[in-house]
Amino acid sequence: MTARVALVTGGTGGIGTAICRHLASLGHKVATNYRDEGKAKAWQDAQKKAGFDFAIAKGDVADADTAEAMIRDVEKQLGPVEILINNAGITRDTTFHKMSAMQWQDVIATNLGSCFNVTRPVIDGMRERKWGRIVQISSINGQKGQYGQANYAAAKAGMHGFTISLAQENAKFGITVNTVSPGYVGTDMVMAVPEEVRNKIVAQIPVGRLGDPDEIAFAVGFFADDRARWITGANLAINGGQYMGW
Ligand code: CAA
Repeated sequence: MTARVALVTGGTGGIGTAICRHLASLGHKVATNYRDEGKAKAWQDAQKKAGFDFAIAKGDVADADTAEAMIRDVEKQLGPVEILINNAGITRDTTFHKMSAMQWQDVIATNLGSCFNVTRPVIDGMRERKWGRIVQISSINGQKGQYGQANYAAAKAGMHGFTISLAQENAKFGITVNTVSPGYVGTDMVMAVPEEVRNKIVAQIPVGRLGDPDEIAFAVGFFADDRARWITGANLAINGGQYMGW
C-alpha cells in the first residue's frame, strides 16, 4: 500500500471522523478542514490521545476562496492531495412549502457547491501526477428522496451527477471518481431527527438498526485503494437494505 495524502472534508463529524481514522490506519497522511478553530483543535487533541495524528486547515467548503486557501494550507503541511473525500454536509430539514431560500441555498452550497470548491483546486495536480482518488459521500436520500429534504436530496443526487461526469473526464489520467451513499448512520445528524420519526425510519431498515460510521469508512478505503483502479463512476449504496434500487 502506497502512503498518500488524503483530505476528508467535514472530518470532525461522525462519518468524517471514521473516514479519517480508517485512512490513517491504512497508512495515509490525513487532513480535514474546519470553520470553528476551537472545536477543531479539541477534536485534533482527542484524536491524538486516541493515537491518530491529523492535520487541520481552516476553510469553509461552501466558499470557493476559503476552500482554495484551505487546500493550499493542506499542501503546505502534508504535500499534494492525492485522495479527496467530499464528505462535508449539513441538513436543514423542512417540508418544501415551508422552506426558506436560505435553507435551500445553505444546503446546496455546502453539500454540492463544495464539490466544485474543493475539487477544482486539486484536480490539475492529480491530472499532472496521473493518479487520484475522489469519493463523494452522498446519501440514500439522494437516491430515493425524503419527505422534508427537497434541498438535501437535490444536493445529494447532484453529487452523483458530478461523480459520473468527472469520472469520464479524468479516467485517462489515473483518477477514479466514485460515490458512497450511506443510509441512516448513528451520528449526531441522524440523532437530531425527532425520535418518533427516527424509530419509523429504523423500522424500514431490513438489517434492523442504524449504520455504524466504520461501515461507511470501510467502503471509502476500498475506493481509495490502488487496486480499485478500474472502478470509476460507481455509486455504492450502504444502507442496511433500506433502499435497493440499482
Ligand atoms: N411520508 C408521508 N407523510 C409524512 C412523512 C412521510 N415520510 N413524514 C411526515 N409526514 C406527514 C406527517 O404524518 C404529518 O401529517 P399530518 O399533518 O397529516 O399529521 C405531516 O407530514 C407533518 O408535516 P409538517 O409539514 O407539519 O412537518 P413537520 O414540520 O412536523 O416536520 C419533518 C417534518 C421536518 C420533515 C420531519 O418529519 C422530519 O424531521 N423528518 C425526517 C427527515 C429526515 O429523514 N431527515 C434525515 C436527516 S439525517 C440525514 O440526512 C443523513 C442521511 O443522509 C440519511
